[in-house]
Amino acid sequence: MDRPTILAWLRRRDPERWAALGREADAVRAAHVGDAVHLRGLVEISNHCARTCLYCGLRAQRALPRYRMGSEEILDCARRAEELGYGTLVLQAGEDPGLTRAFVSELLLAIKAETPLAVTLSLGERPEADLAAWRDAGADRYLLRFETSDSDLLRQIHPPRPEAPASDVHPRLALLRRLRELGYETGGGMMVGIPGQTHESLADDLQALAALDVDMIGLGPFVAHPETPLGLAAAPVGPDQVPATERMARTVVSLARLLCPWANIPSTTALATLGGAVGQDAALACGANVVMPNLAPARYRRLYEIYPGKSGQAGAATVDALLRLRIEALGRTVGVGPGASPNWLRRHAAPPAKETP
Ligand code: 5AD
Repeated sequence: MDRPTILAWLRRRDPERWAALGREADAVRAAHVGDAVHLRGLVEISNHCARTCLYCGLRAQRALPRYRMGSEEILDCARRAEELGYGTLVLQAGEDPGLTRAFVSELLLAIKAETPLAVTLSLGERPEADLAAWRDAGADRYLLRFETSDSDLLRQIHPPRPEAPASDVHPRLALLRRLRELGYETGGGMMVGIPGQTHESLADDLQALAALDVDMIGLGPFVAHPETPLGLAAAPVGPDQVPATERMARTVVSLARLLCPWANIPSTTALATLGGAVGQDAALACGANVVMPNLAPARYRRLYEIYPGKSGQAGAATVDALLRLRIEALGRTVGVGPGASPNWLRRHAAPPAKETP
């Protein structure tokens, strides 16, 4: 799909055409990644964060009770994921230096020794030595949204770490390339409707996903958090501003599917925050093929408040039972096994054995 076509879809405001795009993306999803919806057990292992992102409720300056789960608590969640039949555990956190290289490595070894789970890490921008050590310890995948491919906009909303070299214009795009070289299944993505994000810029983001050849894509609408600078400030909205709506985010899910047909694409929590279960199901019907139910204890979930309204309080078993019914109602099946990204599998497929005459 060329850039003018992407832009035309992004600027379109006409429900009938949206439905047509959704159907096209759904057909591409069925043909390339099949009908299974993979469930990933999500555990938000720490809400400490060293960064000062202007959009995020976990930003360092915010007064918020902080927690860091212990290995035994995390292992309990891993056991729970296995009991519920999930093939993957996702360990997510703020950018927390307290999650040391050794702690995470040992945790990975323990999870891998005790369960057959694939493990996805989503721990922010970490030194390469950490990422390499964790890969060696058994981590399978890494999620790192680039948030926006526009380096200037990124710098405004996601101030660089003080020690970052000025030459590092977009640290996350650089890290994503490195993660791929380390052999991780690699996931990128962006927020839709960041104040200051134009349709041109969002088209760049979509093209960046294709150029990076990502294996997973996480995206959702920007949700203003009143206790952050971007939730408070009158947003610098220009004439080409992307709306931060569920509708727009879903259009972007469909375009992402068309551009990256073999990627795993979750229907994300931000979509469910704006649109409820209906919104989450709608994304599954227009390109998405993954859902990440939260397995962390409710007392922690409450504190992982990236944006308001994010945390559900229903228990994991209830959420799981409802999800299975909804997936069935969509005419889909629940994925079994680790559910690796078909894009990664294609890249890592053994070359066909040479025929011996
Ligand atoms: N609204 C929507 N998404 C957000 N994220 C962080 N803050 C917000 C917000 N206010 C997303 C970012 C981050 C992911 C963990 O959550 O994309 O990478």
